[in-house]
Amino acid sequence: MLSSLSLKAPAKINLYLEITGNRPDGYHDLVMVLQSIELSDRLDLRMTGTDKIQILCAHPEVPTDETNLAYKAAKLLQNLYPDLGGVEITITKNIPIGAGLAGGSSDAAAVLVGLDRLWNLGLTQGELVEFSAQLGSDVPFCISGGTVLAVGRGEVLSPLPALENLALVICKPRNLGISTPWAYQTFRSQGLLATSPNKGNSSQMLAAIASRDESSHRQIARLLYNDLERVVLPAHPQISNLKSSLEAQECLGVLMSGSGSTVFAIAQNLASAQRIAEGINHDDVDVWVTTSCISGIQDWQPELIN
Ligand code: C5P
Repeated sequence: MLSSLSLKAPAKINLYLEITGNRPDGYHDLVMVLQSIELSDRLDLRMTGTDKIQILCAHPEVPTDETNLAYKAAKLLQNLYPDLGGVEITITKNIPIGAGLAGGSSDAAAVLVGLDRLWNLGLTQGELVEFSAQLGSDVPFCISGGTVLAVGRGEVLSPLPALENLALVICKPRNLGISTPWAYQTFRSQGLLATSPNKGNSSQMLAAIASRDESSHRQIARLLYNDLERVVLPAHPQISNLKSSLEAQECLGVLMSGSGSTVFAIAQNLASAQRIAEGINHDDVDVWVTTSCISGIQDWQPELIN
């Protein structure tokens, strides 16, 4: 029987995020296009012969107690299957935190997928989605990943044609993380739903993704949209300045991901992405060049180190 395994947990970006309604539960109805990217965390899961769930992570800002979403994922399955013992989870953090890249959600998704295999649970895809939705709105997407249309709270998923080889520059202001609840609540309290400049434009983005011709990356880049920019950019000039300096370069399109603080650029190809990355002369910004990724949680392969 398997006693340990290593998984790759990719980050995501939002190519499109439109807020379409205020829900009575405090959440918001969304129309999103989500895209997995190669920038990934590594999770090593090991059975230890004890009942303990233990999180190990060298990153100083990642909690290793029961507040970590990966811990919550393990606890959720342990409560359902109490005879199967505990697990040691080592997280090698490459995805920045508080970044709008779903790093914590992807780690939790990896724990669900990993424990299903390690504990031989035989969970169906439907059960995995149901458990993951209890952990957070982005966790169901992180399990299967790729290019996906997400509606409802973000947990109702429809796969889209995979976007391959999308060249990306990911930029994260180093000491700035944005609270997702703050971003959504501010959007609601400012009444911005009534004045969406992009109402219903998701169909154009979906058509661009489906077209799969040579110009589709260019069209997708032109249609990038995120309603949360309307609250986050005015409150954080550091992010809007970063966006402007990317727009001044040879990018096809630039957008904030999720609730920020990451801003990403779509480039024509990897060479262009590299030039754009080198052109960012903000000392306080971390930069990665990466590409789109066609799946979510998968086995860790040494050559995929990013
Ligand atoms: O679901 P998750 O815990 O990841 O969401 C984090 C926060 O983002 C929620 O507490 C809520 O404030 C906000 N949110 C929202 N509407 C959504 C998803 C998230 O208001 N559809």
